[in-house]
Amino acid sequence: MHPLESQIQAAVNFLQEFNADKARVGIVLGTGLGQLVQHMAVSKTIPYNEIPHFPLSTVESHKGQLIFGKIGETPIVAMQGRFHYYEGYSMQQITFPIRVMKALGIEKLLLSNAAGGMRPAFKKGDMVLLDDHINLQPENPLRGLNSPVFGARFPDMSMPYDEELGKMLKTAAHKIGYFLRTGVYAAVMGPNLETRAEYRFLRLIGADMVGMSTVPEVIVANQIKLPCAAVSVITDECDPDNLQAVSIEEIIEVAGKADKRLSEIFVEVVKQL
Ligand code: HPA
Repeated sequence: MHPLESQIQAAVNFLQEFNADKARVGIVLGTGLGQLVQHMAVSKTIPYNEIPHFPLSTVESHKGQLIFGKIGETPIVAMQGRFHYYEGYSMQQITFPIRVMKALGIEKLLLSNAAGGMRPAFKKGDMVLLDDHINLQPENPLRGLNSPVFGARFPDMSMPYDEELGKMLKTAAHKIGYFLRTGVYAAVMGPNLETRAEYRFLRLIGADMVGMSTVPEVIVANQIKLPCAAVSVITDECDPDNLQAVSIEEIIEVAGKADKRLSEIFVEVVKQL
């Protein structure tokens, strides 16, 4: 057995003891984006540090717990706080929870993140559905995992984000009077934000927004055939010709303001799943 397989099994066994294994939808909540939990009837909250083989979240703005419960009639599991490569974890560690949630039985995955907006039309607080991505992060969560139990060796990425989920998110946004845009997300390593020349480069290669997460999870979701969708909240406007300095505090504040609407959209979709 591959060591990763037994680690997944250990985490699953632990979580099943809490009868917390009925979730059908997994949700990963990005930086400053935790309000969804207020819409949940929570049955169990489990800090990451209690779960076998889960890495510890080191970012203060991320709480670091797995929350089981229901939205409407849909049983879900939400990750309040995710892991980032810049924190020092390997890509396999970052994506471990995705494999565990899948092994627990989730059938769909929704992700959110905070991102810099490079397309001029994107303004602070906007929400953008990912319809594709460009992976500029070093390392790959699938490197070395050449056992068929993990899925394909060379997963197809022609349609990394599930169309049906994307449509549902757009419709849900429309219902609350919001137009959800779509765009291409570039994933970078961080933790520094980009220089003007780097934003110019990212725009040039076809990216509409940039962030430090999501893509590793989406790569794994594709390998394990877990349909997923992701939404970015634009927290800063990255116009290289008029670039303003930005701090993590501002990023969190902007994300926090958009969080209510994003949560409403996710709630609407989850209820239908
Ligand atoms: N760059 C990278 N990551 C980010 C940004 C950004 O401008 N904003 C929020 N996350």
